Amino acid sequence: MSRQFRIAPSILSANFAKLGQEVIDVIASGTDIIHFDVMDNHYVPNLTIGPLVCESLRPVTDAMIDVHLMVKPVDRIIPDFAKAGANMITFHPEASEHIDRSLALIKESGCKAGLVFNPATSLSYLDHVMDKLDMILLMSVNPGFGGQKFIPETLNKIRAVRERIDASGRDIWLEVDGGVKVDNIAEVARAGADVFVAGSAIYGAGKDTDPNRYDSVVAAMRAELAKVA
Ligand code: DX5
Ligand code: ZN
Repeated sequence: MSRQFRIAPSILSANFAKLGQEVIDVIASGTDIIHFDVMDNHYVPNLTIGPLVCESLRPVTDAMIDVHLMVKPVDRIIPDFAKAGANMITFHPEASEHIDRSLALIKESGCKAGLVFNPATSLSYLDHVMDKLDMILLMSVNPGFGGQKFIPETLNKIRAVRERIDASGRDIWLEVDGGVKVDNIAEVARAGADVFVAGSAIYGAGKDTDPNRYDSVVAAMRAELAKVA
């Protein structure tokens, strides 16, 4: 059975002066999910966007909004994102005092829930919560900034998580975030990922030269993924 591949543009690299149109255009180019990076200048050394921006974007698209919380503490902000229209909320386990409680809070708020692993975070956090997860997000860069280089060791981690998901028999999505481009997306898919976050690769492509740049880069990514499926 072939896996369904989903492309999730990270709006971190979009033009914030016209964010609504950036979301509409990138979904029209054939992507599936809006990846929404929330940074708090505490858990990570950068500051981005919160529930108000999510609420503003909600009416412009039917696409899933995948909120990646890079914040500490985690719990306080979860209900606000659920009210703002988030569909999926993920958080970093080491940023939560009570992982099981944070997952329950996300579910009670009506959203899908996921855990995020930094490059050096142990997968042992998965041991007791697999039955509560809709997605596992593996960071292939250290969180905080777009445009960083993919850390190759992540490929082994993707394989390990793919095995655990398959063994669980549950339909848990495996998302990879950081440095995913046209030239490595197939390798990431072959290792076992099925959701691909791409910020600078999509929003940064051909900025001044290609008027259809989202279409071009997304088509190129789809062509690479077609070699894997
Ligand atoms: C990094 C963010 C990523 C980032 C990816 O902390 O979580 O989602 O936007 O950007 P690229 O695709 O440029 O590495
Ligand atoms: Zn992210």
